[in-house]
Amino acid sequence: MSKTKTRYVCQTCGSAQPKWQGKCPDCGEWNTLVETVIQEPAPGRMGGAAIAGGAAAPLALPDIPADGYERIPVPIGELSRVLGGGIVPGSVVLISGDPGIGKSTLLIQLCAALADGGGPVLYVSGEESASQIKLRAERLGIVSANILVLADTHLESIVAHIEKTQPRMVVVDSVQSIYSDAIASGAGSVTQVRDCSAQLLRLAKVQTFPLFLVGHVTKEGAIAGPRVLEHMVDTVLYLEGERFHSFRLLRSVKNRFGSTNEVGVFEMAERGLVEVKNPSEAFLAERLPNAAGSAIAVTMEGTRPILVEVQALTSATAFAQPRRTANGVDFNRLLLITAVLSKRARIRLADQDVFVNVVGGLEVEEPAADLAIAAAIASSVRNRPVAADLALVGEIGLSGELRSVGQLPRRLNEAAKLGFTRVLVPKGVARKLEHPPAGLEILGARTLREALEIALVAGDAADESG
Ligand code: TYD
Ligand code: MG
Repeated sequence: MSKTKTRYVCQTCGSAQPKWQGKCPDCGEWNTLVETVIQEPAPGRMGGAAIAGGAAAPLALPDIPADGYERIPVPIGELSRVLGGGIVPGSVVLISGDPGIGKSTLLIQLCAALADGGGPVLYVSGEESASQIKLRAERLGIVSANILVLADTHLESIVAHIEKTQPRMVVVDSVQSIYSDAIASGAGSVTQVRDCSAQLLRLAKVQTFPLFLVGHVTKEGAIAGPRVLEHMVDTVLYLEGERFHSFRLLRSVKNRFGSTNEVGVFEMAERGLVEVKNPSEAFLAERLPNAAGSAIAVTMEGTRPILVEVQALTSATAFAQPRRTANGVDFNRLLLITAVLSKRARIRLADQDVFVNVVGGLEVEEPAADLAIAAAIASSVRNRPVAADLALVGEIGLSGELRSVGQLPRRLNEAAKLGFTRVLVPKGVARKLEHPPAGLEILGARTLREALEIALVAGDAADESG
């Protein structure tokens, strides 16, 4: 029989203390330590987060056999891209995101995509009943007999089923719902989540099946439970999007088997998540070419350029303090841009409310979108449209200068691909460009004022309202 010991486990960071204290010495949070009975691991077995079981001896570097893993191809291209080009057997992927964003949908679609390749895949659902999973599958037109659904939350029985069925892949939806008899604290507690995940992870490594874990997020948007979870797994993915928009971005924030910062773009449709192979085209689909207050930015999502429409509306304020509203751009960035517009480009905004929106529910964090945001605002104030064939790239400095941005060639290629004929960029990078894409005119501007001269078309905007 293994021994037990009592520890005080922090519900925020997961660190275990021998004595109760008001403040966690590791993360500094107050009143987060909870008394927890922990099983001492039997001698020779590892506890906690260690991965490789058994007694391993050190090996000289050249003697270590190359891990010639062959990736399992994933027919869903956008998912495959984010994973680094297929699934590595034995790898553990944590996928997280707001409730209702489409995690379960994506994973059942992944199961369906792999189920026909031979061998069963196991979908463990700790939250929904088997018939709820079936309902979703029916909606998606998934019928494969190779998808086994297990509605269970008891770790020991889940492990037994995995050992018995030897699945090709396992999905656990979600880690927070699984509990183990060996741990005294309740399901969803830090200790339960950490230790259950560690056991599943060990099994995945030993039996070399890929394991997908769904992780809940807290109100603040972090993955709920112990931070160590993110360190334990090989890959961490976030599925993001706005509740009222159908676009979903799948982002990799950690990937031991591929590049991070990769994004996959999907659209939540009537029958599940549909890949968006050409996101720029999708984001620009409903654009009115000659409307005031609209500008096109070329942003980078990881290594992928995406064209987005930035819209701005300014209107005379009814308040002493004019309002600034940012949707899809950082609020402080918007304040900075409006300040530079007023001070350096003589665009009067002191008595104007300013609303800025990125179309499609996308979040644009890059400063490279500054110029498009500024142009959209100026265009609305002046009621002059931004030229319809023009895309804008550039960061704005406090002196009203345009600052260069990275990965310009990729951005330019994407703009050319979508039929833009002119791109406005900071003068410094414009000069250094060696081979701009054919058919694309590169315009350089040194300051925001110069840029607005070029970007805004003379004459009033067409009234598109009627
Ligand atoms: P779900 O995968 O259950 O989200 P999560 O597991 O992240 O909580 O998806 C829930 C939402 O997706 C739900 O509001 C309905 C919607 N949806 C569709 O629009 N189309 C579909 O084909 C499916 C299955 C769900
Ligand atoms: Mg779900």
